[in-house]
Amino acid sequence: MIYSLQDINPKTYEGDMIFMYGDESAERVLPLGKREVELVKRRRSGEWRAESGERRAESGKDFVVAFDRLPSRLYFVSFDSERKGAEVQERLRLLAAEVLRLLERDGVREVALCGEGTLPEEVAAMVEGLTLADYSFDRYKSKECYHLERLAVSRVFFSEEELESQRRLWNRIYWCREWVNMPVADLNAERFADELEAVAKDLEGVRCTVMDRKKIESLRMGGLLGVNRGSVDEPRFVVLEYDGCAGVESGEWRAESGAGAPGERPIVLVGKGVMYDTGGLNIKPDDYMQEMKSDMAGAATMASVVFAAADNRLPVRVVALLPLTDNRPGGNAYAADDILTMYDGTTVEVVNTDAEGRLILADAIAYGVKNYNPRVIIDAATLTGAAVRAISTFGIAAMQTNAERELEMLKIVGEEVHERLVEFPMWKEYDELIRSEYADLRNCGTTPQAGTITAGKFLAHFAKDVPYVHLDIAGVAYFTKAQGYYRAGASGYGTRLLYGFLQMQ
Ligand code: BES
Ligand code: ZN
Ligand code: ZN
Repeated sequence: MIYSLQDINPKTYEGDMIFMYGDESAERVLPLGKREVELVKRRRSGEWRAESGERRAESGKDFVVAFDRLPSRLYFVSFDSERKGAEVQERLRLLAAEVLRLLERDGVREVALCGEGTLPEEVAAMVEGLTLADYSFDRYKSKECYHLERLAVSRVFFSEEELESQRRLWNRIYWCREWVNMPVADLNAERFADELEAVAKDLEGVRCTVMDRKKIESLRMGGLLGVNRGSVDEPRFVVLEYDGCAGVESGEWRAESGAGAPGERPIVLVGKGVMYDTGGLNIKPDDYMQEMKSDMAGAATMASVVFAAADNRLPVRVVALLPLTDNRPGGNAYAADDILTMYDGTTVEVVNTDAEGRLILADAIAYGVKNYNPRVIIDAATLTGAAVRAISTFGIAAMQTNAERELEMLKIVGEEVHERLVEFPMWKEYDELIRSEYADLRNCGTTPQAGTITAGKFLAHFAKDVPYVHLDIAGVAYFTKAQGYYRAGASGYGTRLLYGFLQMQ
C-alpha cells in the first residue's frame, strides 16, 4: 500500500472516501446531506435498529455505512469518541477491517481518509487497522488478489516521518506473516537463515551471524542438535545484533567470551524457530499436525522486531537469538528416553519428542546468558497447546522470573497495542514436575496439568538469575479462521508489543 499525506476537504473531495465521525464536532465538514445526517444520528442513538430491521445494523455508536453516491463512494465510520485511548483505538482497528472488506467488495483500490475533531491516535489506529487487514498470503495464488493500493490521509493528523515510521513497522509485520505462512518445503532452516542474512545486510546497524551444523556442534548445543537429528535439513543458529546506541562502535559492546560488555547491556530476544513440527517420533496424530509450519513464528517475530528497531533507528541494544530446525521422525531421530546435554551442561531426559521447542530455546537462552550479559531475556514461542486451551486465541500466556518490572511494562504496552498478555504463576511447586529420575530435567511434566507453566519453568532454569520473560504465543501466532483485522493464517502478533517495549526503553 502506498500512503500519502494530502490536503483533503471532505466537502469537496471527489474520489472515494473514508470519513471518521467520532462526535458532533465532525459535522462542520460532514460530506452528508441533511437527511443522511439525521439517519446517522438516529443510528448512533440506537433508534435505527428498531425501525429499519436491517440485519447488519448494530446498536451503539460503532458502525460502518457505505453511501453509494456515484461516481464515488463514502465509507462512513461512526465511533464513540468518548471512549479513550487503547479502547477506542482497538474499536477503530476493528472498524477499519470492516471498511476494508467493503472496499474489497466494491473493488476500491484508492481511497482518502479524513475526519474532523478526530485525534491523531484515532486516525493512526484506523490506518493501522486498514493495513493489518489488507494483508493476505498471495504468493501461491495464480489469480491476482485484491489489495488497497493507495491511501491518502488528511495532512492535519501527523507528519510524514510519523507515518513513515509506522509504515516501516507494518512492513516488518507483513514480512513476519509471510515467513510464517511459507510452507517448510519452501522455507527450511537454511533458507530462512539466508533470508534473514539478506535482510540484515541491507540494514544499517544490524549484524547477522549464521551458524551451521558444524559450528552448532562445536558449541555443544545438545537441544538444537537433538531435535534436528531426525531431519534431512540442517539446523541453523542465527544471531541478529542491532546496536542503536550512538557513539559506540558496532561490535564493541558485544561480549565475545562470556564477560560483561562496556556500556549498556542488551535486551536479548529469543524466538522458537521450529520450521515444521511433526512431533518427531511422538508424531502428531490426526489433524494436529496441520498448521505446524507456523511453529517458527517466535523466531519470525523476534527477527521482525530487531529489523523494525533498526529501520526506525531506535536507541536500544538488542540481540535476537534464533535456533532453527524442523522436528521430524527419521532414521536417526531423537527418541523418548534419550538424554541430551544442553549448551550450559544441563542434562535433559526426553520424555516426549513433541516437546521440542523448549529444547532448542534452552540452548539459545543459555547462550544469551553466557555471551551477552543481558539486561533481560524475552522469548516468544508457539510452545504449548495448553496455552491455547487456557486462554484461546485472544492473548499471550506470559511468565517471568526476576523480571516483574519488565513484564509489567509489557502488560502496559500490550493493552496499548492490543497484543495482550496474561501472567501465569511460577510457583516453586511446579519445579517438582520437571525433575527427572535420570537427568537434571525432563522435557515435559510428570502430569499433563499446567503444561504451559511447566514449559515456562523448564526454560527459566536456563535463564539462571537473569531477568527473564517467557511469552507463549501458541494461541495467537496463527489463526485457523479470520479474526478481527487478521485473515486466516499468520498474524505477526507480538511484533507491535515487543517493538513498543523497545520504544519504552
Ligand atoms: N508446537 C507445539 C505447540 C502448539 C500446539 C503450538 C498447538 C500451536 C498450536 C509444541 O511443540 C508441542 O507440540 N507441545 C506439546 C507439548 C507436550 C508434548 C508436553 C503440546 O502442547 O501438546
Ligand atoms: Zn511439538
Ligand atoms: Zn513445536
